[in-house]
Amino acid sequence: MTKSDRANFGSKLGVILASAGSAVGLGNIWRFPFETGNHGGAAFIFIYLGCILFFGIPIMVAEFVIGRRSRSNTAGAYQKLAPGTHWRWVGRMGVLAGFLILSYYSVVAGWTLEYICEAATDSFEGKSAAEFIASFNSFVGNPWRPVIWLIVFLLATHFIIVKGVEKGIEKSSKIMMPILFLLLIILAICSVSLPGAGAGIEFLLKPDFSKVDAGVLLGAMGQAFFSLSLGMGCLCTYASYFRNDTNLPRTALNVAWIDTLVAILAGFIIFPAAFSVGIQPDAGPSLLFITLPNVFQQAFGSLPWLAVLLSILFYILLALAALTSTISMHEVVTAYLHEEFNLSRGKAARLVTGGCIVLGIFCSLSLGVGKEYTLFGLTLFDLFDFVTAKLMLPLGGLFISIFAGWYLDKKVIREEVSNNGTLKLGIYHIIAFLLKYICPLGIGIIFINELGLLK
Ligand code: PFF
Repeated sequence: MTKSDRANFGSKLGVILASAGSAVGLGNIWRFPFETGNHGGAAFIFIYLGCILFFGIPIMVAEFVIGRRSRSNTAGAYQKLAPGTHWRWVGRMGVLAGFLILSYYSVVAGWTLEYICEAATDSFEGKSAAEFIASFNSFVGNPWRPVIWLIVFLLATHFIIVKGVEKGIEKSSKIMMPILFLLLIILAICSVSLPGAGAGIEFLLKPDFSKVDAGVLLGAMGQAFFSLSLGMGCLCTYASYFRNDTNLPRTALNVAWIDTLVAILAGFIIFPAAFSVGIQPDAGPSLLFITLPNVFQQAFGSLPWLAVLLSILFYILLALAALTSTISMHEVVTAYLHEEFNLSRGKAARLVTGGCIVLGIFCSLSLGVGKEYTLFGLTLFDLFDFVTAKLMLPLGGLFISIFAGWYLDKKVIREEVSNNGTLKLGIYHIIAFLLKYICPLGIGIIFINELGLLK
């Protein structure tokens, strides 16, 4: 495929919105709160912010450089920039990570569709926190419903993927991102004004670094990669569609702050409400789904029509945010199969969708009827989450930083970061330093620490 055959993102705003659309999703609104809750709150958040700043932003720029320079899918990109070397395995690992994440992520994305229906049929009205927990558990334990929603969600992703890059991804991101943002702010304000919300705010803001262990560090690092869609070539694939005048460092900064702001807002929605109604912050993957209906119920109880309206709107936007993320994961695998194996885009997409439906069904059932089948004490769903977010993505990020910091010709990075000398190079020096020293060392130390070797 030549350069000109490949699609392009039409506008500058489109580039940022599509990349931010990939980054902002269930990772921010569902995964960030439950990881924060599992790892004790504020200290986790501080470390997470450090990971975004010191690993996330430079590695995102590196992915952008690799993608735009090669104009290729993520595995093909290494083939082009480092022909005949084993670097292509970094790309291939990314494709595998994308496939695995898409499988279990779509399960949760499917839950959002169920909650749209619940909100629309007014089934939150009059329920207590305990009843929300019970109804979530009975839904997830049902062998059919979550599976059907998972399939619906993957088919929607499939449909947009076969429609092409620009029209599908760009348009949907442009409309929904600003509305989602506004609604999150409204919900955060409602949540912090609930009675007893103060304990939740304290949980978010008052760090207790004495509780920080290897698991917290790995969790925060994994969350940073997951949330920014890094380490698996997703943004590298998107950058292969960027225009030559896209400002790569600025795009990375914009995506990072938008993504972080959404995660923090989600924290300010979930924890004050959870503490207010007595839900444990370490409730795990159910946290968002058992806490949020309480916010609607408590904050708008006197205006039921508004509660229904806002809850429907919220779950629709959440589903759309998840959709812009699933599209980006699907694109990584589809572009790889399409370009590397000469399959038509349609056929490549069908293979990805079909494979993810099969794996996704197993993930979904592993939370219900298949609960007792575990590996290393984890259900298939949790295992996929652990292996991808805490191992594959940070490992991918480590290799990307070594590739960009040590292997790739400095000239390539300088040209891409400065758009062939038309932009100032100030930030290049900082990014080059972080990629060369801080990312490999920092990520390496967190891994070694997790293995217990530092003690
Ligand atoms: N960043 C997405 C989120 O926060 O929901 C999830 C994700 C998308 C992870 C794309 C990895 C990826 F390549």
